[in-house]
Amino acid sequence: MSKKIFSGVQPTGNLHLGNYLGAIKNFVDLNNDNDNECIFCVVDLHAITTKQNPKELKNNIRETVATFVASGIDPKKSIIFNQSRVSAHSEGAWILSCVARMGWLNRMTQFKEKAGKDKEKASIGLYSYPVLMAADILLYDATHVPVGDDQKQHLELCRDIAQKFNNDFEVDNFLQVPEPLIQKDFSRIMSLKDGSKKMSKSELSDFSRINLTDDRDQIMNKIKKAKTDPLPMPQDIKELDERLEAKNLLGIYSSLTNSTLKDSVEIFAGKNFSEFKEILADQLINKIEPISQEIKKLLGDKKYLDKILLDGVEKANLIASKKIERIKEIVGFL
Ligand code: TYM
Repeated sequence: MSKKIFSGVQPTGNLHLGNYLGAIKNFVDLNNDNDNECIFCVVDLHAITTKQNPKELKNNIRETVATFVASGIDPKKSIIFNQSRVSAHSEGAWILSCVARMGWLNRMTQFKEKAGKDKEKASIGLYSYPVLMAADILLYDATHVPVGDDQKQHLELCRDIAQKFNNDFEVDNFLQVPEPLIQKDFSRIMSLKDGSKKMSKSELSDFSRINLTDDRDQIMNKIKKAKTDPLPMPQDIKELDERLEAKNLLGIYSSLTNSTLKDSVEIFAGKNFSEFKEILADQLINKIEPISQEIKKLLGDKKYLDKILLDGVEKANLIASKKIERIKEIVGFL
């Protein structure tokens, strides 16, 4: 069955292994299946929900495009564009924010985590972030949305918003209710410093993550220093519930080699972590180093990257402007 795929990545710098294994790797597979229509968005409007340096934001937008292409997304096959240049996203977000309920947004755990203790000082944009995300998806009638596990709740909200709009305005199936595409295993890559925390761009220590722009030495060093426990490698998959760092590293290994966690546990059972870490670092270098080198090469050709976005904006606009016109008609605007 042909799928309409939509997903987004924030251009906030430091794209990392979690973004790659949780989302971008999946984008590439979906892009390679000729039956799919894929749209990948650089969500710059989402990025400004937290403070950004304008100059760095411009660079990060280009770096996100470069990462997509370097990872294997073909801009001739898939639409790659920057969200702020297709005005239907902002308009759609406003209209949908009048459909979404405060009670629904109050349940969003990402807001609670990001806003921290001082909620009063968080931007309103950070609060309504998931409504903009719903607009992104619904404007393109996306049937499937590939994301990491941390976005699951936002997708459920998007489904609720679509259903409520269709009910309120009595337009059955007008907004397509999308299905999340979340990998069963390894959909949440954890910090290399703490197996209970998500690998994240905003974590202060660079040693907590493998960046997609890291070189061989950086990758090797970070894996060497990655937190483990004093025991030998686990003998049984059941031990992993108590040994979060081992679970994460074995998960990364499994995802890179397309094997199951059970098989990976069996391969390394009882060995020393240092032996495993060497093999893991090699796997990571094989995967990440070519991407990292390609990103750096592409960043030298700003014109090419800007042209990808320009072409993408034109195509995305054609789809999104039609949908937003229909939405305005349905809502009752003249
Ligand atoms: P962002 O930029 O935070 O993350 C981009 C993608 O990377 C995944 N991800 C992870 N997966 C596994 N382990 C991790 N440690 C990890 N960290 C990040 C995220 O789940 C995401 O898939 N709200 C979205 C951006 C967005 C979007 C959309 C996505 C805006 N509009 C419409 C889908 C559809 C986000 O947080 O991106």
